[in-house]
Amino acid sequence: MNPLQFLRLLFKGPTHQQLAAQLRRPHGFMAGKVGERMNAANRALYEGAWNALDLRDGMSVLEIGPGNGLFFPELASKAQGLKLFGLDLSEDMVREATARNARLLSSGQLQLVHGTSDRMPFADGAFDRVFCINVVYFWDDPLPHLHELRRVLRPGGTFTAVLRTRSSMEKMPFTAFGFTTYEQADWERVLQAGGFTLQRTTVLREPEIEFLGVRFVPESLVMVASPA
Ligand SMILES: C[S@@+](CC[C@H](N)C(=O)[O-])C[C@H]1O[C@@H](n2cnc3c(N)ncnc32)[C@H](O)[C@@H]1O
Repeated sequence: MNPLQFLRLLFKGPTHQQLAAQLRRPHGFMAGKVGERMNAANRALYEGAWNALDLRDGMSVLEIGPGNGLFFPELASKAQGLKLFGLDLSEDMVREATARNARLLSSGQLQLVHGTSDRMPFADGAFDRVFCINVVYFWDDPLPHLHELRRVLRPGGTFTAVLRTRSSMEKMPFTAFGFTTYEQADWERVLQAGGFTLQRTTVLREPEIEFLGVRFVPESLVMVASPA
């Protein structure tokens, strides 16, 4: 960032392009604030995911793109003896999630990894459940990611994607910069192309939210799929 860009950021706030880049991979001095804003805006989506995951005692669960990891302690309480994993593209977010989750990490119940969902450092069949929230917009080509998901899921495992609909996302101008957005039928087609069968969809109608200066009533989809 050159000095002029820095001054603009300081006095006028981030451009839509800068914000989109932060949401794709929070980084640098803005990362902490971006993580906190996501926590405030996205709690209802986490609750939607937990309700859909159908967790049983002892399951292995991977979250792709957990950001600052605020919600791992709540996830850990949803069943006995869950083994939790988080994989995030942002080193800054992995660092923040590590600082927030000292207890789960030291007990060995949680592992946090820096990496990308199209090349995951996990064994075949490692997980009963994989989920991600507000991440699929950044998969420029979703197929390598879905291919990896099929590899790391156990037989009987599921992949749950939580995403805001295209009509909701379009209300946020920064989504014009590098986001791929979906309505339910679009994501179902992508799942099929990637070798998954859609099991069920829950539509979440959230209360009005304010996200970085934009107020709107978002609609989100919780879509549970299993390998075909
Ligand atoms: C918009 S944030 C969403 C954070 C959180 N899930 C939420 O909804 O509040 C997207 C997160 O996914 C991560 N991410 C993006 N692409 C990824 C990929 N291919 N593999 C792993 N993490 C990814 C980003 O670094 C960021 O932390």
